[in-house]
Amino acid sequence: MKAIVCERYGPPDTMSLRDIHQPMPQRKEVLVRIHAATVTTGDCEIRRFNIPFLFWIPLRLIMGITRPRPGIFGQEYAGRVETVGSDVQGFKKGDAVFGPTTMRLGAYAEFICLPEFYLTPFNPDRMTFEQAATIPTGGINGLHLIHKANIHHGDKVLINGAGGSIGTYALQFAKLLGAEISCVDKGPKLEMLLALGADKVIDYTKEDFTKNGEQYDVIVDIAGESSYSRCIKMLKRKGRYVLGNPSVTGMFRAIWTSWVTDKKVFFQLAKYTQSSRIYIRDQIETGTIVPFIDKRFTLEQVPEAHRYVDTGLKRGNVTIIVVPTHKV
Ligand SMILES: NC(=O)c1ccc[n+]([C@@H]2O[C@H](COP(=O)([O-])OP(=O)(O)OC[C@H]3O[C@@H](n4cnc5c(N)ncnc54)[C@H](OP(=O)(O)O)[C@@H]3O)[C@@H](O)[C@H]2O)c1
Repeated sequence: MKAIVCERYGPPDTMSLRDIHQPMPQRKEVLVRIHAATVTTGDCEIRRFNIPFLFWIPLRLIMGITRPRPGIFGQEYAGRVETVGSDVQGFKKGDAVFGPTTMRLGAYAEFICLPEFYLTPFNPDRMTFEQAATIPTGGINGLHLIHKANIHHGDKVLINGAGGSIGTYALQFAKLLGAEISCVDKGPKLEMLLALGADKVIDYTKEDFTKNGEQYDVIVDIAGESSYSRCIKMLKRKGRYVLGNPSVTGMFRAIWTSWVTDKKVFFQLAKYTQSSRIYIRDQIETGTIVPFIDKRFTLEQVPEAHRYVDTGLKRGNVTIIVVPTHKV
């Protein structure tokens, strides 16, 4: 099969198209023919290996100490079941499925083998393969952050770093709950955020939102670049601060703030549960939520897609079309 293989941690040109052995499913695994995948900022961070200190050593042990092994990145996909292992009950050849690739990664390829409980079925007449591929990172993390924020109708919410994969989903979930939402990001992403339902947008390259004197019920911080203490001061009584990209010190301060003040700070990682995947799938299939797709690339163009995401211009999601729709 064809796959994009990364030789070493570094820039996008460390990745190239190769012919490698197609994987074979174990008894409880499903072999999926990938139709679409994504390039997320997280993928680029892994490729460059600019990983926060706390996670650097454990991730290097998992991903490969001197170079990535097996070196195929990509943390989410959608495709069709090709074959199933002897003990798989819930799927058959031809089923449309999507899911996270887990710590194995491997979505920049024509095929992937995964345990059946990581797969979620969907209806390709109601949701495209590329839309489905955006659910595990943007959708699950966006839903998780909004769930933690415990938003009530009319709450004043600020989402910092709203213009990317996670933020564009978080905005839409918060909107469903009736929040009044301010979004922080930059450039052309602001227009997209207004179209997705933001009530107000703030360009972080022109204005520091932590100094504008506003008070919020909830701050969801996906960018993780703002002053912790100023964000806490901007919260109303019983306000919630949700850290989507927490630093080690941020985690310790979160515990302390939640303990000694009437404000709550959350930093837990999302769980990629089947129930969350089904909930988001249903929202997209019924048209309630719309994944924002900025640009599409082919499998061969994955290095180019990484270069684009590295520019910081990505709005919402960037997808990789492995099997074009007219061939599906
Ligand atoms: N499974 C996962 O991949 C996962 C899970 C949880 C968290 N995370 C981490 O969470 C972060 C966000 O993920 P994502 O996929 O949503 O990334 P994304 O698509 O790049 O979105 C992040 C957005 O934040 C903006 N931003 C950067 N600096 C900012 C600042 N100082 N103020 C306001 N906005 C700013 C970025 O814009 P510019 O950079 O263009 O300025 C970008 O539009 C990443 O670091 C990622 O590693 C990843």
